[in-house]
Amino acid sequence: MKEKLEDLNKKIALAKLGGGQDRIDKQHAKGKLTARERIQYLLDEGSFEEIGMLVTHRTKDFGMDKQVFYGDGVVTGYGTVDGRLIYVFAQDFTVFGGSLSETHAEKICKVMDLAMQNGAPLIGLNDSGGARIQEGVRSLGGYADIFYKNVMASGVIPQISAIMGPCAGGAVYSPAITDFTIMVEGTSYMFVTGPNVVKTVTNEDVSSEDLGGASAHSTKSGVTHLTAPNDVACMEQVKRLLSYMPQNCEEQVEKLPYTLGDELREELENIVPESSNQPYDIRDIVHGIADKESFLEIHKDYADNIVVGFCRLAGRSVGIVANQPLSLAGCLDVDSSKKAARFVRFCDCFNIPLLVLVDVPGFLPGTDQEWNGIIVNGAKLLYALSEATVPRISLITRKAYGGAYDVMNSKHIGADMNYAFPSAEIAVMGAKGASEIIFRKDIKEAADPVAKLKEKEEEYARLFANPYSATERGFVDEVIEPKYARRKLIKAFAMLENKVASLPKKKHGNIPL
Ligand code: HXC
Repeated sequence: MKEKLEDLNKKIALAKLGGGQDRIDKQHAKGKLTARERIQYLLDEGSFEEIGMLVTHRTKDFGMDKQVFYGDGVVTGYGTVDGRLIYVFAQDFTVFGGSLSETHAEKICKVMDLAMQNGAPLIGLNDSGGARIQEGVRSLGGYADIFYKNVMASGVIPQISAIMGPCAGGAVYSPAITDFTIMVEGTSYMFVTGPNVVKTVTNEDVSSEDLGGASAHSTKSGVTHLTAPNDVACMEQVKRLLSYMPQNCEEQVEKLPYTLGDELREELENIVPESSNQPYDIRDIVHGIADKESFLEIHKDYADNIVVGFCRLAGRSVGIVANQPLSLAGCLDVDSSKKAARFVRFCDCFNIPLLVLVDVPGFLPGTDQEWNGIIVNGAKLLYALSEATVPRISLITRKAYGGAYDVMNSKHIGADMNYAFPSAEIAVMGAKGASEIIFRKDIKEAADPVAKLKEKEEEYARLFANPYSATERGFVDEVIEPKYARRKLIKAFAMLENKVASLPKKKHGNIPL
């Protein structure tokens, strides 16, 4: 027995050493943690239980039978984050560059199955040279097995991917299917084809970082939702993100304890400027409404004409979608519509109520927008909101014009409660554009057309640049003073807590992708 125990301990020690101390040192020299260290930072102390520690690959080709490492380049298992069960896999770059073999894939699939069956989030820590080249199609099959399970798990359990090293080729499609991706700045990159292939095919010179680093994907492509300056910060981001989510689609997010006060927020009175063309930061409204320091912005540097993220309202997790007047005057365009639609669908999957802050002059005009499909992309947001059955509340802070009024969680597409500040303007279009069209004849025939236009603009604004015609029809439920917004919203979300709504029976809808 003693010998057997010694043998076991030797194997465990070898498994913990991954590809060996020299490769661990190399990993550290790059500013990266090892797979096991990352898991340690992610999970509650002492909670990790490893599965498949002594798994090895089955390949004999290319002398692989002489290169065998316990664990086969991925550490898998389960543990807790803030006491909640989660499943995790962390690719180990010290073993064959974290490349994915048939057995490596099997280990990942095993924790994916367990996560699904037991209704708990799955966290993937990616750091890999891609398909294990020595294994050919067996590796490709392994990837496809993972992709398939990612799709099956979508909407059932939250899935989060951290990119903490290379993630290239087809490997990118697992993170792409998961709900959130976080990239580490400087040490991670993602691309379907790398710089060498790009050079061969298009003759472009581009570095890995410029092509697919954290900055490229957080600003240009929107592939990553968050970035982190280093591995430790990345694990902190994962934990924070998890705190806004339930364990699975059948559960509600746990409410943090909160004692209600008067909830009056005087600071909200002075944020929306007097002049309707003056920009302001919609985040100031979000911070004024949300619990202190509870706002976690998602996709911060991508499509910044819309702000999305999670916050808490009296301890309740709430998803925020808000037009941002600081960028493109808050117009909806292709990217912002896609960004918001994806976020809305995540919240709806996981029972997270939505608060939509509206200040939108319309859709962004131009050939660029039309040719890039603003029609079909704007429809994504319209579709996502219409389909969402979670409690949905809108607050119109200023402009709600044209089709964008309909799209931004109007009463007509199923919002539960619609509020407006007295500064709200709800109309088909702005006063100037509208007057130029409907009073064209009057203006043309006037002795002073400029004065006439101004007079008509004022007349139109008096009639429509306010929230009252919408309130009279019940399209807006109540006009509220900004300082009462937090109090109103807390009460309304509590009132909607047990909302039951369902969609017509169907296999699935056909969102305009
Ligand atoms: C087997 C691999 C490997 C791979 C790296 N290694 N990638 N082994 N299969 N895919 C091994 C290396 O041989 C090396 O072993 C060790 O991992 C570390 O790699 P280095 O090159 O020394 O590290 P670094 O300089 O940091 O470069 C990392 C890298 C590079 C950029 C990822 O290794 C690389 O370009 N690898 C190949 C990437 C690739 O083409 N993969 C296939 C993509 S296609 P030793 O023993 O020397 O330490 C794909 C299709 C997926 O993935 C399709 C899914 C549908």
